[in-house]
Amino acid sequence: MREFNAVVLGAGGVGKSALTVRFVRDVFVENYDPTIEEEYRRNIEVDGQLYSLEVLDTAGAEQFTALNEVYMKSGRGFILVFSLTQEASLREVDNLRQQIYRVKGGNTDVPIVVVGTKMDLVNEREVQRNTIQDLATRWALPFYETSAKRNWHVNEVFEDLVRQMRDR
Ligand code: GTP
Ligand code: MG
Repeated sequence: MREFNAVVLGAGGVGKSALTVRFVRDVFVENYDPTIEEEYRRNIEVDGQLYSLEVLDTAGAEQFTALNEVYMKSGRGFILVFSLTQEASLREVDNLRQQIYRVKGGNTDVPIVVVGTKMDLVNEREVQRNTIQDLATRWALPFYETSAKRNWHVNEVFEDLVRQMRDR
């Protein structure tokens, strides 16, 4: 079985752990417990083939962001997470995206998926779909709106990333 590793990055509280735990364990983590670093592994079937995916859930908290460069060096694929309910978290995705390309020596051929979380919180939404659609087009990156709570489009994120890692 082919093995890949993915790193989940994004600002604090945007829902990185909820997304990861929904994918790995199929439960929703309701309480907010800031992450330091957690590693998970799950098998995932993509286009009839089984893959072993290691997922590194990272800390969004400021005091740990120095580690991001280490994760970026060792990471093969990246999930850049922001909350649809928090406009500022989208800017952090742009920073992370640029930092990844720098750390990878200017190589922009890196598997990345951009994820907007908390799609179920419709009344708290701050980022409109066309805003992120335009950005994702400019960045040439795939984008998904998700809800870990409702389990909307979570698996698609990881499948997309595995396809990218498989194909390059
Ligand atoms: P750090 O580990 O500090 O970087 O935060 P994080 O990005 O891992 O955030 P986490 O997954 O812990 O989620 C923060 C809070 O948002 C928790 O209370 C989650 O239950 C909530 N949350 C995450 N995803 C969703 C979602 O899709 N819908 C709703 N309604 N709440 C969510
Ligand atoms: Mg977390």
